[in-house]
Amino acid sequence: MIRTWHLQDDRQSLVLASFDNRLPEAVYWGPALPTGENLETLSAAALADVAAGMVDRNAGLSLCPEASESFPGQTGLTARDRAGAPLMPSFRFESEATSEHGLTLVFADKSLDLSLVFDLVLTPETSLLKLQTRLESADEITVDWLAAPVLPVPAHTGEMIEFSGRWCAEFLTRRLPFAPGARVRDNRTGRTDHAHFPGLIVCATGTSNTAGEAFAFHYGWSGGHKMVAEELADGRRQVQFGHATASLASGRHFVSAPLYATYSDTGFNGAAVLFQRHARDHVVHGARMPRPVHYNCWEAVYFKHDLEELKAIASKAADLGAERFVLDDGWFGRRDDDTSSLGDWVIDKRKYPDGLTPLIDHIKALGMEFGIWFEPEMVNEDSDLYRAHPDWVLGHADQIRGRQQLVLDMSRQEVRDYLYAHIADILQKNDIGYIKWDHNRILPVVDARQAEGFYELVDRLRANFPGVEIESCSSGGGRIDFGVLERTHRVWLSDSNDALERQRIQHDAALFLPASVTGSHVGPRHCHTSGRTLDIRLRAWTAAQRHMGFEMDPRELTEDEAAILREVTSWWKANRDWMMQADILRLDSTDPAVIAEQQLSRDGGQFVAFAALTRPSDQILPRPLRLTGLDPQTRYRISLVNRDEAPRLSRGAPLLKTQDLEASGQYLMSHGLTLPWRFPETLWVVEGKRI
Ligand code: GLA
Repeated sequence: MIRTWHLQDDRQSLVLASFDNRLPEAVYWGPALPTGENLETLSAAALADVAAGMVDRNAGLSLCPEASESFPGQTGLTARDRAGAPLMPSFRFESEATSEHGLTLVFADKSLDLSLVFDLVLTPETSLLKLQTRLESADEITVDWLAAPVLPVPAHTGEMIEFSGRWCAEFLTRRLPFAPGARVRDNRTGRTDHAHFPGLIVCATGTSNTAGEAFAFHYGWSGGHKMVAEELADGRRQVQFGHATASLASGRHFVSAPLYATYSDTGFNGAAVLFQRHARDHVVHGARMPRPVHYNCWEAVYFKHDLEELKAIASKAADLGAERFVLDDGWFGRRDDDTSSLGDWVIDKRKYPDGLTPLIDHIKALGMEFGIWFEPEMVNEDSDLYRAHPDWVLGHADQIRGRQQLVLDMSRQEVRDYLYAHIADILQKNDIGYIKWDHNRILPVVDARQAEGFYELVDRLRANFPGVEIESCSSGGGRIDFGVLERTHRVWLSDSNDALERQRIQHDAALFLPASVTGSHVGPRHCHTSGRTLDIRLRAWTAAQRHMGFEMDPRELTEDEAAILREVTSWWKANRDWMMQADILRLDSTDPAVIAEQQLSRDGGQFVAFAALTRPSDQILPRPLRLTGLDPQTRYRISLVNRDEAPRLSRGAPLLKTQDLEASGQYLMSHGLTLPWRFPETLWVVEGKRI
């Protein structure tokens, strides 16, 4: 007997089949199937043969492959009973319920009193599969691994792009062959982490940003994930995502985080825009519009807070166009460096004898909002909090410290209550519109309760201070995922304010993140994290590609630099309404020295393309920049915004150097734009409008 289910929209179809009441398998995932397809036939037709040297029936590559079926790869569940004996459930169909956009399927193993529930949704508008697995047990059990619903990827997708990274180099991508055996990532840092963005793209050989097939995945969880991308000996391929191994405690109810997945036949961009739109329109809630230009004082003053100096900096920042001033680390306890005071969330009277009010009043008078830095989950041993509650620390006493700090045990109610009370007190007594919420070390133990405790604390603050926006920071981009974005409004993508490094990081992060949530700041002339010296134009335009801000000491700017920054900032303000809603389309640059993208308005009526030359090209002249996502039949007016930056060595007369051009979408996508020659470490900005 075959039961079938079909999640579909006009882009994609996911067909599930349960054979003889066993766990459902995805028998088809790909482009939308035509109506009238017989799902039972299709499911029966998908059953693979059995050859010599195999067991007599292929174990199902189900939404949770079972050990009891002798599944010859990673199983979807690893659990032990109270005595520690492995549990080998064999689940059978119990019930189903459909909702408007999804379906809940319940399976049970009656002899073990276990039920396995799959919550499956195909999100309207954004066409992402949002999939969760729940396990309920009558007895207390221990779960070492519970995968979110497991999906197969087809044989013609022979490659995968996975994500690694480090501090100041988040979202590093690597394209690997999908080979026999398992590619496993088990992130044991306890946070999302720079090195483990929980994403994967499985694609066909030759898939590019703009063409070809791709299956993209993201696990929306902040506590560290495990991923398995495995090719079995029989040739089938599976992708599993779940919480990092051993992060789940004993209990009766277990649930995976949502796994988001989608199919694209229009290259990586086809999937990227769906993740971008979903993050912006359905994951993040209550972001202030228009997105205000930030000023953050970290790289200007570090821990040296002087009221008069901060006021002078704020005045300069406002003059450049900043609309929100963020007071970073150093305002609380006796925090003169990073060795003390985390946990003591009271204003440092030595630095602020009259509290924060004089600074906030000054900032408000300049027309800016005031924001402030916290690192709630952390504690220094040199703090009143630690002296009072050394037992609140997570992990054993002689653990290795990280940035001289320890982690608070967020599973404890009294810890969360303490943090809530202190943060709430600061928010109540001061006019604060924004929190930069940091998390500057990995955890000493992997425990899902830590991330759950963090979520609960943020949720409580959000509920009681709905007007306060939150940015997720973790030494830059160490906590970026849809789990944290459900409760915050912006991510600090990287501690690197080096515009060249930023070009690369922003480009790769756009596979999942929209501009509206991605913080990007104009850093100091001499970059503090790379030692490189970069021109203000490159720094300013790079920040203008995302949610713009400044982070240098504005007093270091020459008048020329300040004028350029003011100009780019007002360009950003004039365009942010549509740009913060736009799709970021990564362009397939024919020159590996160029990183290029096109931000296309939702109605397709206008766009801006950014093309950064990160190093000298191998060939003398720029290769044409081919655009994407335009209507071939429509004509567009194209303008090179910063044409006055063409250097003297550009001696020829490409049209865009002196005037606008009008051309069809077909020409712009097939031939591309001929741009003037320029120096490396510069960036062309091209605007286009439908005529
Ligand atoms: C982390 C953040 C920085 C800054 C410092 C403050 O490193 O990523 O932006 O806030 O902490 O200590």
